[in-house]
Amino acid sequence: MRKTLFPRVRPRRLRLNETIRDLVSETSINKSKLIQPLFVSGTLKKKEGIITMPGQYLYSQDDLLSEIDELTNLGINTIALFPNIDSDLKDQSGTEALKEDNLICKTVRKIKDRFPKLVVITDVALDPYTSSGHDGVILNGKVDNDQTLEALIKMSVNLASSGADILAPSDMMDGRIGKIRDSLEVNNFKDTILLSYAAKYASNFYGPFRDAVGSKQIDGISKKTYQMDSKNLKEAHKETLLDISEGADIIMVKPAMPYLDVINDLHQEINVPIFAYQVSGEYSMLKMGIDKKIFDHNVIPETLISLFRAGSSSVITYFARWTAENYDNIS
Ligand code: PBG
Repeated sequence: MRKTLFPRVRPRRLRLNETIRDLVSETSINKSKLIQPLFVSGTLKKKEGIITMPGQYLYSQDDLLSEIDELTNLGINTIALFPNIDSDLKDQSGTEALKEDNLICKTVRKIKDRFPKLVVITDVALDPYTSSGHDGVILNGKVDNDQTLEALIKMSVNLASSGADILAPSDMMDGRIGKIRDSLEVNNFKDTILLSYAAKYASNFYGPFRDAVGSKQIDGISKKTYQMDSKNLKEAHKETLLDISEGADIIMVKPAMPYLDVINDLHQEINVPIFAYQVSGEYSMLKMGIDKKIFDHNVIPETLISLFRAGSSSVITYFARWTAENYDNIS
């Protein structure tokens, strides 16, 4: 019979009090690892609450700058910016996305002018600009890969020249990282970082985001024809390795909480940083549960810790501001 190790081994000794627990903790959250997504409107004069994302706003230009001022004072130094453009500017192929002085380019210039050290991430995808709400150009009833690439390249160069530090292609078209990387090099944007949404799943958790940017799809084409199937893990390796070989500096897993296995698996296998995106539906689910007192706000750091424990280097989360306001560091 095997002898029991108890009482020589008592794991509870290391849980005795908070100081000891902190000394032996394996994971921590630091504000410098949190990225706040922000939505900017092309028409609003004052910020407006997003109904399906309580506590998050669609900002006017001025309100956006004051929000960034507060975020930087709180120690949040990276934002991911998304535009909500006037529906009159949308069309079948998202031509507004290609303009050098569109809402997002103008806003990035303004932000970088006032906050030169802030790291600004911008999405590269057509969904805020197409009347269909799709991430690409529609041809013969399909989201056409190669036509979309042409638009993404142009958009990327415009964003880089407006001052965006990190471009985040979130469209899931094949071959886009290589094409974008090449045109950035040709146009002398050698230091622009590419954060590829490599493992982006076709998820039902994006609903509130689509309310925020006004990109709800109305046609019958499914985003499943380009975003990944939630049943697949090996495919995340394939997508990720492809994007790294095409020149991605960082890769993203999205959504976050239901895909912890994907984060962890990639963390074991690849040698570039992984960012996780705790998406709008994950935010709203937690926030509404907290507001209804079903559980308390401590669920927030618990979810963030789980993403870092799984292997994320940084996390894009709508709770970035809240976490910075409420904690110095969580260890
Ligand atoms: C657009 C994009 C989406 C999100 C980020 N970029 C939505 C989509 O693909 O439909 C979702 C983010 C969130 O839900 O918070 N390409």
